[in-house]
Amino acid sequence: MKRTDFKLDKMKNKCIGILTSGGDASGMNATIRAVTRAAIYNGFQVKGIYRGYEGLIAGEVKELTTEDVSSIIQRGGTILKTARSEAFTTPEGRKKAYDVLRKEGISSLIIIGGDGSLTGARIFANEYDDIICIGLPGTIDNDLYGTDFTIGYDTALNTIVECVDKIRDTATSHDRIFFVEVMGRDAGFLAQNSAIASGAEAAIIPEDRTDVDQLEKFIGRGFRKTKNSSIVIVTESPKDKNGGAMYYAERVKKEYPQYDVRVSILGHLQRGGAPSAYDRILGSRLGEAAIQALLEDQRNVMIGIRNNEIVYVPFAEAIKNDKPLDKSLIRVLGELSI
Ligand code: F6P
Repeated sequence: MKRTDFKLDKMKNKCIGILTSGGDASGMNATIRAVTRAAIYNGFQVKGIYRGYEGLIAGEVKELTTEDVSSIIQRGGTILKTARSEAFTTPEGRKKAYDVLRKEGISSLIIIGGDGSLTGARIFANEYDDIICIGLPGTIDNDLYGTDFTIGYDTALNTIVECVDKIRDTATSHDRIFFVEVMGRDAGFLAQNSAIASGAEAAIIPEDRTDVDQLEKFIGRGFRKTKNSSIVIVTESPKDKNGGAMYYAERVKKEYPQYDVRVSILGHLQRGGAPSAYDRILGSRLGEAAIQALLEDQRNVMIGIRNNEIVYVPFAEAIKNDKPLDKSLIRVLGELSI
């Protein structure tokens, strides 16, 4: 018997649960489709768990067939719905979740989500080692360590660029400075790369916090020498810190009253819309790889992509480390926005 035949035989009739958790991201549906179809192809049964860990605790589980995931690859959001679960952060909540999995006969759990969702998976996997947990990086923030890209990031980036192109038209007509706020939680991937892609004059990101205030750097460059309007992309600020587009706009209004300033907060439109081709392919590859990982007896890992190759990243590594932003991107934007 070949190794893979043996594995297939061993895993036959095993049941996999799949859920999406935390903020939705375009490409999650492509991932659900890939997991479901690759699982069925390899002889597993698949059950969809609705509303993330919340729905798991409440027992919202339904078998998925290949037909259930037809015609979803092109759709944003998640057909399984999602939630941020307080209950799953408690031992009692996780015990209820475990009981549901046992009752449903689910022995492996695939979690599509970001940092918080994989943190939950890690804690759960440590407590209940008879459930195999596999994570898939699904978040627009691109902030998971160990993977070059997360599912949903590329689509969100393209959405931002499309919006900034439009804002640029009105900024130019009125000779205004626009502070455009984008999502990203504590990470500047969306802000920095959308700034480069849209030809913005500056990006204010958490990774570039130094002694010299980023706003001062931007003003100090004398941006008015060659341009009458400007776009500054700003990462949303953590709730407890100064920052965000409003904060910088107010400061400019006070400190440089000669400038005409406006703010645009892109908000949740960044999370919606049809996934880009890249996110569809990424979701398909990572989803299929999750099933391969189960066949290879992997557990408690996030499936990532590095240098275009599938990698297994232990949960602890994916969550614990801050994903570094390539600092040369700061230089690129600086040199090209003169
Ligand atoms: O993690 C994804 C994300 O979109 C972050 O960029 C943002 O800070 C957060 O979710 C917003 O969450 P919610 O939709 O719960 O307000």
